[in-house]
Amino acid sequence: MRCSNEVTPLKAAERERIKKWHLYVWKFFSDRYFKAVLVGRLKQMSQDKLDVVIIENSSVELLPKELWSHESAKRVQDSFGVAPRMQILDWNYHRAGMSKLRNIEKRGRPDVVHFALLDATSTPIFASGKLKVVIHALNGDVISPKNSTHPPRTLNRFCGVMAKILAGEEGPDERNLFQIERKKSFKDLLSMYEIDEAVSLTRLGTGIDLRDLVKSESSRRAYAIGGFAHGHFDEEVILNSKPMSISKEPLAAHVVSARLSYELERSKLM
Ligand SMILES: C[S@@+](CC[C@H](N)C(=O)[O-])C[C@H]1O[C@@H](n2cnc3c(N)ncnc32)[C@H](O)[C@@H]1O
Repeated sequence: MRCSNEVTPLKAAERERIKKWHLYVWKFFSDRYFKAVLVGRLKQMSQDKLDVVIIENSSVELLPKELWSHESAKRVQDSFGVAPRMQILDWNYHRAGMSKLRNIEKRGRPDVVHFALLDATSTPIFASGKLKVVIHALNGDVISPKNSTHPPRTLNRFCGVMAKILAGEEGPDERNLFQIERKKSFKDLLSMYEIDEAVSLTRLGTGIDLRDLVKSESSRRAYAIGGFAHGHFDEEVILNSKPMSISKEPLAAHVVSARLSYELERSKLM
């Protein structure tokens, strides 16, 4: 006698067919589901991608010791009450003593750094958190305003804050405004911020339309702008980046910083 739930050869084949069909349907939808999740995540990642503007070889440094007793340092102390060891080297005030310094053309212009910083950080893209701005000082220190903070607006205040940071005497106020890392090379910076591609903006680079350059972005990118008034990037920067020129004319660093922030904003926020 046959039991009712006995598996006949026909039923077994039918079950096998249904099982295969289920497997096929599951595979079909799960493949698409995982692909959709992956594509969504990649899109999300590219939107999250944080570009970095590096104000490179930034002309901001403490007054070198050999100028502490110079007449110009004394004058600054009398006028502003700042001791020589806490003064920022500034061509406007210290030029009489600067002729003996090495690499003079890149030094003593904190105003160049300050302007470029303000132009990049006074933008909607910086406020949105999609742009990181970094001052890479001539001594290698890395000073980066935290998102949603406002760097000091006046040059005197900016120099006061930079002096404290560069002297290693920053307090809670400075730490609230800036992230600080010590003595990094340009290459260190690129790995710190996980940069895939670095572009150095220089009149000597390959000519390109800035809008096309920003649009062609496919990976996490750093843009270096010279934070100095004269001369060119150090060799290490050129060796570790693609030099690009956005105009036949030499431009001021803050003009490049403003144009670049605007193009990044157009491509990411608008
Ligand atoms: C005052 S410039 C330094 C001068 C330097 N001799 C030069 O022409 O690149 C400050 C910075 O602005 C940027 N810059 C100036 N002119 C540029 C141009 N035509 N294309 C791209 N970047 C430029 C560079 O990053 C440069 O280091």
